[in-house]
Formats: sequence, structure tokens, C-alpha cells
Amino acid sequence: TSGQLANIGVIGMAVMGSNLARNLAHRGHRVAVYNRTTSKTDAVIAEHGSEGDFRPAAELADFVASLERPRRIIIMVKAGAGTDATIDALIPLLEEGDIVVDGGNAFFEDTRRREEKLRGHGLHFVGAGISGGEVGALEGPSIMPGGSPESYEALGPILESIAAQVDGEPCCTYIGTDGAGHFVKMVHNGIEYADMQFIGEAFELLKALGLSHDEMADVFATWNTGDLDSYLIEITSEVLRKRDPNTGAPLVEVIVDAAGMKGTGTWTVQSALNLGTPVNSIAESVFARAISSAPELRAAAQKALQGPDGAINVADRDLFIDQIRQALWASKVVAYAQGLDEIRMAGLEYGWDINVGEVAKIWRGGCIIRAKLLERIRSEYAANQLVTLLEAPSVASGLADAQDAWREVVAVAVRAGVPVPGFSSALAHYDQARAPRLNAALTQGLRDYFGAHTYKRVDREGSFHINWSTDG
Ligand code: NAP
Ligand code: ATR
Repeated sequence: TSGQLANIGVIGMAVMGSNLARNLAHRGHRVAVYNRTTSKTDAVIAEHGSEGDFRPAAELADFVASLERPRRIIIMVKAGAGTDATIDALIPLLEEGDIVVDGGNAFFEDTRRREEKLRGHGLHFVGAGISGGEVGALEGPSIMPGGSPESYEALGPILESIAAQVDGEPCCTYIGTDGAGHFVKMVHNGIEYADMQFIGEAFELLKALGLSHDEMADVFATWNTGDLDSYLIEITSEVLRKRDPNTGAPLVEVIVDAAGMKGTGTWTVQSALNLGTPVNSIAESVFARAISSAPELRAAAQKALQGPDGAINVADRDLFIDQIRQALWASKVVAYAQGLDEIRMAGLEYGWDINVGEVAKIWRGGCIIRAKLLERIRSEYAANQLVTLLEAPSVASGLADAQDAWREVVAVAVRAGVPVPGFSSALAHYDQARAPRLNAALTQGLRDYFGAHTYKRVDREGSFHINWSTDG
């Protein structure tokens, strides 16, 4: 170790923190490391200490003292109480201008609260979304930091040095003040839910067509060479091809069909509800996991409910497979649009000056939703002032080309009894968004009828109420 103080510190030597610390060391940083339970720090140093310049500390005060100023400290501990406990222990040890980064999956309102608290102590608090799981943390994640612009000057270069790189540009950029980074990470996960739900629907439709798992794997591998090119499509092909070592059956058929969730998708939908921004495909993806994990409901309904058997017979199988591809692409575009709309609306609500195109840019690598589509999204936002991604010229024309296939797939699925809540809700959003008039006029009439809630008129300014039984 050199005589210089460490230039960055990591607290939390579990999976994410240790991999992030190693990534920092591999990039030539002098990395102070600390974990509440010292044996974990010892284990990381024993195994990886030779990979770079680590400065392990058993006491938090020694860890803090080993850092150059302004201190840069990344907290990578269990979100929630773990983060608060770590922050509270740090505060008395730090000095004005020091920078505390929370790299965990915090809820953005918690980040706003913590930022305000640390600001009161003269400290910078940066809520940084970090995506890419343990491999990303080690080899290059996508990083979404929020906080004061000033703190990014001291911190940004270090984070950018360990982020994934795409076309020579880091997948890390300043997002906005206080909770902006964690908000963007939250929506990233919501989009990830939708991506996986759409892939699941495509899988179910291909299965209903009678394709074997190897054939399905080939279809996804082919799709991965075109517009759908993405990490999740790539690994879908690998997952479908995998055989259970015990039975020789496709492994996916041995896995219990109950999806788990840790909550970020739910947060995305809750936040969208609070903002009043429509994210129905993301919501359907969360609910699809919920029904999958509702065994009592499913058992009761399986006994009681009738319907088609879920087999699909079409005249031209290859044509239908290609139509599924188009439905998947169009639905994916809608989910990305909904997520980005939510980010734009949150920016207006919370005063974050978020550059949506830059968000698409840093999702191009490192994170789970990395996809070819994101380059198109980035360039569309760079070239146009967009209210929504759906109006971007190449996106609108792509959706126009795909829509016949998309409608056909939804119609066939509905007739066959194959549930496609993602594809159909995305299509409903598309049709709602482009409709010259919505059925909301009747809703307003009903609201005025039963509750005198008033309505607006198409031909005059003002709010109106009539007595529905006597007027007119
Ligand atoms: P984790 O299992 O979420 O947390 C374990 C770490 O937190 C340990 O270092 C533990 O210290 C510390 N900790 C827990 N409670 C604490 C407390 N009350 N006070 C102080 N320290 C406490 O670890 P992880 O999987 O590496 O994840 C870290 C963060 O990254 C989480 O916020 C997670 O949501 C986020 N994240 C995870 C992934 C992933 O793929 N796993 C991806 C992105 C983001 P001890 O050793 O002393 O118990
Ligand atoms: P990343 O940003 O790298 O995607 P993440 O958000 O922590 O990392 O998790 C990636 C995905 O794996 C998420 O979809 C996540 O949560 P959901 O269960 O909400 O889908 C899921 N995931 C992460 N850790 C998990 C765990 N311990 N158990 C189950 N799912 C987990």
C-alpha cells in the first residue's frame, strides 16, 4: 500500500459491496473497506487482497480516518434499517463537505429524507442506483447517482471509471438532486418486470403453438439478432435450452411457476399512481407475479372456471411466430415509454432536471434491461423534444408497422385462453394514447350525476353541473 490516504471507501462487504470494492481496486483506486462484522472484511481481503490497493479497517473510525478529504464513502448494506444505522454511525465521524453514497436499493423518499438530514450536517448525500447484480458490480454496472451537482464533481470520475462502457461512454451520469438517482433505478426495475413479463407471454404463446423448448430457444436466439437484441432475450434462450440434470426435462418446466419479488416493481407502480402517470403494462407485470404467487386463488379458480384449453392452431406457424416477435417488440416499446414518462413526470413533481435521453444512454450497458432499443431511445431524445417516447418518429413508425401483428397476437391469445396481460395492456395504452376521444366523457357525466362533481365542455370555458333529472 502506498502512503497516500485512500481515495474511496466502501462499507458493506456482502456480495455487492465486496464486488464493487474489487472493481474500484482493479481500476487503480485506493479502497478503504469496512463491514460491521469484521470477519467478512477479513475474508474478502484474504481472498482478494492481492488484486489491488485495499485498506481494511475493523473500526468505523479507523475507516473514516484512512480516507482523503473530501471523503467519498459508498454504503452497500442491507437497504432500510442497515442504511440508517450506518449513516447514524458515520455522521459524528465525518467533516463538512464529505460525501456519503448509498448504493443500495433504497426507496427514493428515504433518500430524500436522508439527503435533507445530511445536508443539515454539512454533508453531501448521494443516492446512487446501481444495477447489474454481482457481476455488474465487479465488471461494470450501470450507475444512476443523484445528489448535489457539487458532490458529482468529486465523485463522478470515480464512479464513471468503474461503470460499464458502451461506445467509449460510461454507463453513469449525474441524474438530479436528492432522490432522482434512486427513482430512476426504481423505474429501471419496473421496466425490467415488464420486459420479463412480455418474454413470458411470448414463451407461453410459442408453447401453445407446439414448439419444443429447443425450438423456442432457437426462436429467441434468432430474435436476439434483430431489433429485440437484449440481455434478457439472450439469457431467455439459454434458460429455455437448459435441461434438469436429474430428470432430463427442460429445467423451466421443473421450476415452480410462482414469481417472487423484492418490491421495486411495486414501488414503481405505487409512485406512478401517486404521480397519476399511466404505467399499466408495468402494473400488469407486478400483478402477474402476484397471481402466480397466489396458490389458494389459483387452486380455487382452477376447479371452478371453464375456458379454452390454451392450444393455438394457426394456418401459418412461422408467420405467427414472427407476429409474436412484433407484439413483443411493440409492447416493450410501450413499457419503456411508460417508465420514461414516469421519470419525466417525477422530474416535474420533485424539481429534478432529468435528461431522459441520458437515462436511456446509461441503461445501454451494465444493467439487466440493456438492449439495442435503448440506443434508438437515446438518439430520439437527443434529436427531439419529446413529451413521450411514443411520438418519436422512428418509434411511431415502428409501432405502426407492428400493430397489425400485435392486434392479431392479442386476438388469437384471447380466443385460445392464453393470458397476455402485458401485450394487451400495452396495446390498450397505445390505443388510448392515440384516441381523439376517450370514454372519460361518460365517466365525468356519471360523476356529475351522482356526486355533482361538475364537468367541462368542449365548446365553452368553465365548470358545469346540471340537474340530470330536471334540466334540459
Ligand atoms: P445485503 O445482503 O443486502 O446486506 C448485507 C450487508 O449489510 C452486510 O454487509 C451487513 O453487515 C450489512 N448490514 C445489514 N444490516 C446492518 C445494520 N443494521 N448495520 C450495519 N450493517 C448492516 O447485501 P447485498 O446483497 O450485497 O446488497 C447490498 C445492497 O445492494 C442492498 O441495498 C441491495 O438491495 C442492493 N443491491 C443488490 C443487488 C444484488 O443483486 N444482490 C443488486 C443491486 C443492488 P454484516 O455483515 O455485519 O451483517
Ligand atoms: P439489478 O439492478 O442489478 O437488476 P436488483 O435490482 O437488486 O439488481 O435485482 C435484480 C433483479 O433480481 C430484480 O428484479 C430483483 O428483484 P425483484 O424480486 O423485485 O424482481 C431480483 N432480485 C434481486 N435479489 C433478489 C433476491 N435475493 N431474491 C429474489 N429476487 C431478487
